[in-house]
Amino acid sequence: MCGIVGYIGEADVKEILLKGLEKLEYRGYDSAGIAVLNDEGVVVFKEKGRIADLRDVVDEEVDAKLGIGHTRWATHGVPNQLNAHPHQSTTQRFTLVHNGVIENYHLMKKAYLSNVEMASDTDTEVIVQLIEKFSQDGLSTIDALRKTLHLIHGSYALALLDKEDPNTIYVAKNKSPLLVGLGEGFNVVASDAMAMLQVTEQYVELHDQEIVIVHKDSVEIQKLDGSIVERPAYKAELDMSDIEKGTYPHYMLKEMDEQPAVIRKIIQAYQNEQDELTIDANILDALHHADRLYIIAAGTSYHAGLIGKQYFEKIAGIPVEVHISSEFGYNMPLLSAKPLFLFITQSGETADSRQVLVKIKEQGYPTITMTNVPGSTLSREADHTLLLHAGPEIAVASTKAYVAQVAVLMVTASAYAQAQGKTLDFDVVKELGIAANAVQTIVDSKEEMEEIATEFLATTRNAFFIGRNVDFYVSLEGALKLKEISYIQAEGFAGGELKHGTIALIEDGTPIFALATQQAVSLNIRGNVKEVVARGANPCIIAMEGLEEEGDRFVLPKVHELFSPLVAVVPLQLISYYAALHRECDVDKPRNLAKSVTVE
Ligand code: AGP
Repeated sequence: MCGIVGYIGEADVKEILLKGLEKLEYRGYDSAGIAVLNDEGVVVFKEKGRIADLRDVVDEEVDAKLGIGHTRWATHGVPNQLNAHPHQSTTQRFTLVHNGVIENYHLMKKAYLSNVEMASDTDTEVIVQLIEKFSQDGLSTIDALRKTLHLIHGSYALALLDKEDPNTIYVAKNKSPLLVGLGEGFNVVASDAMAMLQVTEQYVELHDQEIVIVHKDSVEIQKLDGSIVERPAYKAELDMSDIEKGTYPHYMLKEMDEQPAVIRKIIQAYQNEQDELTIDANILDALHHADRLYIIAAGTSYHAGLIGKQYFEKIAGIPVEVHISSEFGYNMPLLSAKPLFLFITQSGETADSRQVLVKIKEQGYPTITMTNVPGSTLSREADHTLLLHAGPEIAVASTKAYVAQVAVLMVTASAYAQAQGKTLDFDVVKELGIAANAVQTIVDSKEEMEEIATEFLATTRNAFFIGRNVDFYVSLEGALKLKEISYIQAEGFAGGELKHGTIALIEDGTPIFALATQQAVSLNIRGNVKEVVARGANPCIIAMEGLEEEGDRFVLPKVHELFSPLVAVVPLQLISYYAALHRECDVDKPRNLAKSVTVE
């Protein structure tokens, strides 16, 4: 989703901004732009498409030490050069980049800007035109910005240049993520620390409704009322090598390969000195005092939440509801007497999940965020955080974060059960280790996965994924992976549900991926496969060792049944990857998608 960078200092700003934007490419975008300010004024370069396209239009001759940049994921107005950021006010005095959505921009336009001819279809342009209007009314730039922020409703992270002040970047934030980075003789602005890691590791987080005045050797944070805020910087714990592809052709392939190491890292991170798995005592306490756990998440994280429900109910004996975040906030169910909320979010920035967190906090209920990004918005705002320890996930399609989510859910449920004095009939550390080895075997079987992708998905328009029990939830995730990166229409179903309607879609050769990892329903799922084969489907059965039958296409190394989601998802990820490659899709940056969905 949209990204922001800014720099003020002594270096050539164009290259720093372009490199920063390249680091944000993974978030998904459809156009990009930069604006640089020097003594002669502001120069804006913007282009539809990739950063490489933007590079082609940037004039190398322009020399500037101050500038802002943006990657746009269209919300208001089609993705084109005109709607790309930065946007300028009519006189071109003010130049702005913005992430987020201004909900009342129509009202603002009508109330204050009826005589202004807009150059774009964006809500963002309204912000910069309002600033210009209030400045023409006699306000200083900071006061014009402040007045504008008081009037607009919605989410924003923004960076503003004033042509008449070539020593300042004005920054403001509400609901959308934004950081200020500190350097020697320079300072930077970034929606994600990754963008500016090339120049600094020191960052100051910004809170909602704060304004920052950024000079090259000072940074002043103010609240909207003008009062000064002091906040120490923190070191971004990111390793550049973690965010480079190395010799891999795609981040997704690298991240799938990292999955065994991620499981092992989680074991280490959650092990105490006695080698027992344990979690924060405050989280154990929160679980102890809850009568029901509400898991709130979106997309892949929601699919991990469905597995989490099984773990918390079966292992820890806590009743669980799992909800899609974009629905929950606007259609809240009747809550139990002592609810506890668990937000699962790889990025920690998903706006749909955050709107629920804000509402839940207003009601005073306890909250936990399970995330891969320490210091992310949902992590900061929840009472407690459970970290995934998966390392930066750059590919839009989530793979290692899903496996990490399932593993941390298992660790949490079993640590809680043991803290309550329950004896488990399995050794979590040992079973996670076995699962890590099994995942290794699968990622080492890439040729076979590629063959399956060719055999089943080379020409198909659609595909179905079925499973029962936890295999059903893994099927949902398998279908999501395939559709998001290969654009093949794919749906996941509970094995027994197909015959209640969807079986009408089965034609000669329709691929059906069936998971058979659960002994109790093994015969049932095989019955479901027979139903679709009788109607012409082409079945690809992936079975757990010990449950396999002749004709199965792939046998998963044996793991404990409860741990099978960690393993069964991996062939589905790899098959999707190769299907997307064969179709020449942009695997890491699929069309229309964003890595971190920061608008509702
Ligand atoms: C998964 O491959 C997708 N990129 C998407 O469904 C993602 O899981 C969803 O947007 C939620 O993101 P989060 O975990 O960062 O909150």
